[in-house]
Amino acid sequence: MKTLILSSSLSPRSRSYLLCRATEERLLREAGCEIDFVDLREVELAPHHRPRPQDMDTLKERITAADNYILGMGVHCYSVNDSLKLVLDNCCEGMVGKFFGILCAGGGQRSYLSTMHLTQICMNEWRMIQLPRVVYALWKDFEGDTIPEGELSLRLDEFCRDFHSIGGKLLR
Ligand SMILES: Cc1cc2nc3c(=O)[nH]c(=O)nc-3n(C[C@H](O)[C@H](O)[C@H](O)COP(=O)(O)O)c2cc1C
Repeated sequence: MKTLILSSSLSPRSRSYLLCRATEERLLREAGCEIDFVDLREVELAPHHRPRPQDMDTLKERITAADNYILGMGVHCYSVNDSLKLVLDNCCEGMVGKFFGILCAGGGQRSYLSTMHLTQICMNEWRMIQLPRVVYALWKDFEGDTIPEGELSLRLDEFCRDFHSIGGKLLR
């Protein structure tokens, strides 16, 4: 199964990027898992009514080629970050009907339901099916730029186990 991991934060010290990399590491240990990792910090983006960079067409092709998706987001104003919204609005036709999971970094515990906006977009616009398990992490869950052994690491293990198992069953 070919999984595209989209790390959508543009922050140089992104926490959701670390969640995405940790997930990639775990999924690569599973049998038959191929990963395409997109770091949006390396992709030129533009809003819908502005000239479209070639990078966005390339990203759209990579998205279309994948069987399923792991979307990494940072919470901005209780919602998805702006760069992820640009991708959702402009590059995601190829996601229709496919399976996805969400990894999220927030600044505070009370924003954990912000991922529901991503759920709404993926389900209502792209008719996607979500893994019923979100990994939500705060700065305090990390030690520098690493994920320590303990709760967050275990939640990532569970996320990957379920994503791989359900994702495999949903392949057409
Ligand atoms: C513009 C902006 C808005 C934010 N809004 C929220 C918010 O509503 N709730 C929250 O918990 N954290 C908020 N934060 C904090 C980020 O969610 C936090 O820094 C997180 O680590 C971002 O993900 P990233 O590190 O992958 O970029 C905001 C940060 C920025 C830059």
